[in-house]
Amino acid sequence: MNPQSNKIKVAIALSGLIGLANNVDSGTDAITKTSAAAPQPNRSSFNLLPFTNQVPPEIPNELKKGYELAHVYCQACHLFPEPNLLDKKTWRNGALRKMAPLLGVGRFNLENRADGKILQEAGIFPASPLVSESDWREICNYYEQSAPEKPLPQGPRPKIQTGLKQFQLKELKYRSPMPMTTLVKIDPVRKRLYVGDAQSKTLDVLNAAGELVARTTLESAPVSLTARPEGLYVTLIGHVFPSDERDGQLVLLEETGDQFKVHPILDKLQRPTNTTFADLNNDGSLDIVVTGLNERPRILMNAGTSGAHWLVLDLQGTRSSRDAIGAKIKVTTASGRTLYNHVSVSTGFMSSSDRRVHFGLGSERAIASVEIRWPSGHVQTLSDVMADQILRVREPE
Ligand code: HEC
Repeated sequence: MNPQSNKIKVAIALSGLIGLANNVDSGTDAITKTSAAAPQPNRSSFNLLPFTNQVPPEIPNELKKGYELAHVYCQACHLFPEPNLLDKKTWRNGALRKMAPLLGVGRFNLENRADGKILQEAGIFPASPLVSESDWREICNYYEQSAPEKPLPQGPRPKIQTGLKQFQLKELKYRSPMPMTTLVKIDPVRKRLYVGDAQSKTLDVLNAAGELVARTTLESAPVSLTARPEGLYVTLIGHVFPSDERDGQLVLLEETGDQFKVHPILDKLQRPTNTTFADLNNDGSLDIVVTGLNERPRILMNAGTSGAHWLVLDLQGTRSSRDAIGAKIKVTTASGRTLYNHVSVSTGFMSSSDRRVHFGLGSERAIASVEIRWPSGHVQTLSDVMADQILRVREPE
């Protein structure tokens, strides 16, 4: 069986082939008829393995060809999907309709999609069919005829275990009717929990008791959040479901009473996933790095012209782990103000933050003391520390 030998005279009116019933996948646009006399298929970008095995004897004669073709085409991109995975109707109205544009049979109506041009340029959907009309018909027929009428029962599943050994489980009253949670973040300083949702495009603020205290609606789903004294830096993904449209943003939410004022910082980002802070040029001012899917990171260099004083601590553990992750630092300024922070690199999806710990001192220049609680348990206190420096501290052995 050599699929390359199939001649294509007319491209496929797919709706006729797979009996256009209800479009079960609301994300899929109507499949359009391709014009007659389509060009010869161009298979240059498509790896087809010839079918060399015997067709098993239990496959009825009239499905043998479809069986072979399915084994050639349907495992070009992923593992071979067995027909009994889905019921007939789901194959017909769901999976096969979804796969058709990927094989160039029946196209997405790209013109009507906001990201149509991007998809077209990416060449995800072949412009001409990769499989002939009659072969596609054989494949569809094989799946529909071999699939069960009703979905097969699922095997037993282990019950989902809740709780963790060393943790006590506390259920929150907070409920969302149809959650599509994109962000959960603890704010230890303000003693709050932030919850982002893609369905409602909201950021919820819960208090320590788990009660909703504020909700703000944003332009798209929040996926990362960094709480800083001036407000909450929130990364908005633009589109949760795959799309390279540049609708992502970085915003600063300034708290005004129980409301948030939205200050846009960056827009037109391609599915940004996280924003993190680091002093990249060692000038004492925090710079901002925004990462996104399938695009280069954006860097906002802080000009550092505010004149504010600072202290950066670069800790090296000896008895503790070398990176000193988890070390807690308390800075007391000369005026008696106390500032707390700890060593951590975790910020969000596929990124990490500066391991060094940054303290913004504002107009204060004099530091009374710096107390470090190393993960080993050792407590070290430094005095006579000058502001505006990156101070390396090695844990006493
Ligand atoms: C050009 C590559 C390609 C070919 C050829 C292909 N698939 Fe897929 N298939 C995909 C991709 C990509 C996905 C994931 C799509 C998604 O999640 O939106 C997928 C997903 C699926 C799914 C899961 C659908 C869902 O809604 O999650 C099924 C079932 C499937 N394919 C069956 C088939 C069958 C049957 C064939 C042969 C007719 C086939 N595929 C041929 C790329 C391909």
